[in-house]
Amino acid sequence: MKKLRTPIVAVLGHVDHGKTTLLDKIRNTRVIAKEAGGITQHIGATEVPIELIKEICKDLWPKNITIPGLLFIDTPGHKAFTNLRKRGGALADLAILVVDVNEGFKPQTEEALMILRTFKTPFVVAANKIDKIPGWQSFENQPFLKSFQQQDDVVKQRLENKIYDLIGELYKYGFSADRFDRIRDFTRTVAIVPVSALTGEGIPELLLVLVGLAQRYLEKNLRLHVEGKAKGTVLEVKEEKGLGMTMDVIIYDGTLRVGDKIAIGGVNGVVVTHVRGILKPRPAQEIRVESKFKSVKEVTAAAGVKIVAPGIENVVAGSEFEVVESEEDVKKFEERIRKE
Ligand code: GTP
Ligand code: NA
Ligand code: MG
Repeated sequence: MKKLRTPIVAVLGHVDHGKTTLLDKIRNTRVIAKEAGGITQHIGATEVPIELIKEICKDLWPKNITIPGLLFIDTPGHKAFTNLRKRGGALADLAILVVDVNEGFKPQTEEALMILRTFKTPFVVAANKIDKIPGWQSFENQPFLKSFQQQDDVVKQRLENKIYDLIGELYKYGFSADRFDRIRDFTRTVAIVPVSALTGEGIPELLLVLVGLAQRYLEKNLRLHVEGKAKGTVLEVKEEKGLGMTMDVIIYDGTLRVGDKIAIGGVNGVVVTHVRGILKPRPAQEIRVESKFKSVKEVTAAAGVKIVAPGIENVVAGSEFEVVESEEDVKKFEERIRKE
């Protein structure tokens, strides 16, 4: 059987609506605690193995899932970081649009939605912070439908009203949307999954809808390869003690190997160098804050890794790169990035 590539899922939304907290809940981490003022300022990446997602979904798990996992891209919601949201959006195969259900649509929610529309990225809406709806009784890590059943009628109605507001907002932008359990055709209707990133309620269903989208998306998108020359995007360039210059990257296509020659787009033209080392974060760990990397010989898309390479001092975040074998390849790469 052909190996399916790990889908890239961007998490987008307005500042403080709960993107990082949602990922922390899924990963069982506390990345938000390491952020200055709780504000995300960089693109993050975390590979979550399918077994972990299956564990969260428990008995709801469907058959026939063959994707190896999901690569989650965390993005900043602060208005200063439009370029990072765009970059995250451009990389994504799929997305989660996180909206604080109590606040509804905000400027960067709309901005994120525009990005998704531009790239025609399939997405699911996480209607977050349901635990803050007045009168809500929390049932930790329960599926939304189980928890919802146990709420008072007046509380149920409060949530329904908030969801209708979201449906209305999405409609304004040309999307037909509904609560996930009322949807028959997920290719035509955007699913809204009520969740709490703090209590974990609704996360099983959120992941189920996402995995369903991912599976369908990958099966029909033949442009996604795991074999062939690697292509990627630079997230951050930094000097690491004992390693020298490194760059955190997302490989979105192909396979990268130690020793590969790569061309990287730079402010002063293309930099050609070679990969001296590839360092992988542990599974379900955020590359932005990871301290224990594992040295590997090769890595297959999609993945977030640290690359050790000489001569990358002037490479800037956001640059594209790809494996090159000849002068011809370098020229083709130059043409590609000039067009973008
Ligand atoms: P930026 O990356 O800076 O845009 O923010 P973010 O969207 O990643 O939100 P973040 O995870 O930083 O959460 C913002 C605040 O909301 C934090 O204080 C979280 O604890 C809180 N929060 C997030 N999700 C929930 C939730 O489901 N319920 C409640 N009550 N609080 C939440
Ligand atoms: Na925040
Ligand atoms: Mg964040």
